[in-house]
Amino acid sequence: MQQHGFLQTHLGSPTLQIESAPSATYLRALIENNPIAIVVLDADHHYTMCNSAFQRLFQYSSEELAASDLDALIAAPRVVQEAANLTRRVLQGEKVHTVTQRRRKDGMIVDVELYGVPLFVNDELAGVYGLYQDVTERNRTRSAVRNMTDKLEHIQEEERRRIARDLHDSTSQELAVLNWNLRRLMHLVSSADETVRNLVRQTKDLAYECSERIRSTSYLLHPPLLDDDGLPSAITELAEGFEQRSGIRVDLTLPRKLGRFSNEVEVALFRIVQEGLANVLRHSGSPVVHISLKEQSNWLKLTLIDEGSGCDGETIPRRRSGTGINGMRERLEQLGGLLTVCYASNGTTITADLPTENTFHA
Ligand SMILES: Nc1ncnc2c1ncn2[C@@H]1O[C@H](COP(=O)(O)OP(=O)(O)OP(=O)(O)O)[C@@H](O)[C@H]1O
Ligand SMILES: [Mg+2]
Repeated sequence: MQQHGFLQTHLGSPTLQIESAPSATYLRALIENNPIAIVVLDADHHYTMCNSAFQRLFQYSSEELAASDLDALIAAPRVVQEAANLTRRVLQGEKVHTVTQRRRKDGMIVDVELYGVPLFVNDELAGVYGLYQDVTERNRTRSAVRNMTDKLEHIQEEERRRIARDLHDSTSQELAVLNWNLRRLMHLVSSADETVRNLVRQTKDLAYECSERIRSTSYLLHPPLLDDDGLPSAITELAEGFEQRSGIRVDLTLPRKLGRFSNEVEVALFRIVQEGLANVLRHSGSPVVHISLKEQSNWLKLTLIDEGSGCDGETIPRRRSGTGINGMRERLEQLGGLLTVCYASNGTTITADLPTENTFHA
């Protein structure tokens, strides 16, 4: 093997020393050809070098970068303090990773995913380097998708509400009349033969079944109590129906008195309880589920805890993410909230935190 001393690279830095001439060229090419913007600074935060992706992104020449402090040139005004903190942490030897904003020479603000990495040579901090990936387009697309999902969900809720109202106001009423007529018919055919009476009885039972189904479908599509009486009543009614259908006990801790919030907030929390209960039934095997709703200084906190097989250690990596939990998370994030799901060997806990500042109290 060839013996190479520590050769100074042609990068101009006394601190950047790389073991062999060919590998120094190779490493230089690695940095230069990297599509991610890279800048290297010395241990005093003075500019050492950057690659062409960095120059393309921020539009500064090497001379301009060498003449000023990097943060003063590229930290967006909104994040000056944050940039200074990141620099301090990296110079203290910490690796940092964040998504933030930076400013180009033409003044344009770009969203960047940033890695700040300390460079150690022989256990001494020799410098630091920053990797910047322009994620402006990605963030724009994400926010467009989020807006679109938001609109779709709004349209979907409106549509559910309309169908629920139609079912309740027309189909349900017509079925009620049908039931009533069949009951009268039962009396009228009391003297008829057994076959006719049985047929009428079966038809009456069928009509009753249909009307019950329509009632529960219309309720699940949009619970009328949610509009009229608010969350606690709607959750209580949902829990009672769930207990009857599933045999799983629901232990509710709801505020005695809770203000009214925007329709989006109330519907989001109601749908989370609905999906959470469906998951308990489908996946947990728990005999009970504890649901609590609290209002704490402009935040609503909803918690669902079951006592089932949330995880056996093995299943977590293989756990698939369905639309249920992702849907809950998206609903909350659109409203500035946060969903936490914690699978443990003695059950699953779902916590939804939602700010209420932009909502109204009746
Ligand atoms: N209460 C729970 N107890 C145990 N595992 C759960 C519980 N809730 C969710 N899970 C696990 O998390 C996974 C994702 O749940 P999610 O609701 O997103 O999807 P899903 O219920 O499988 O399907 P769907 O898209 O119809 O909701 C489930 O498949 C299940 O493995
Ligand atoms: Mg589910």
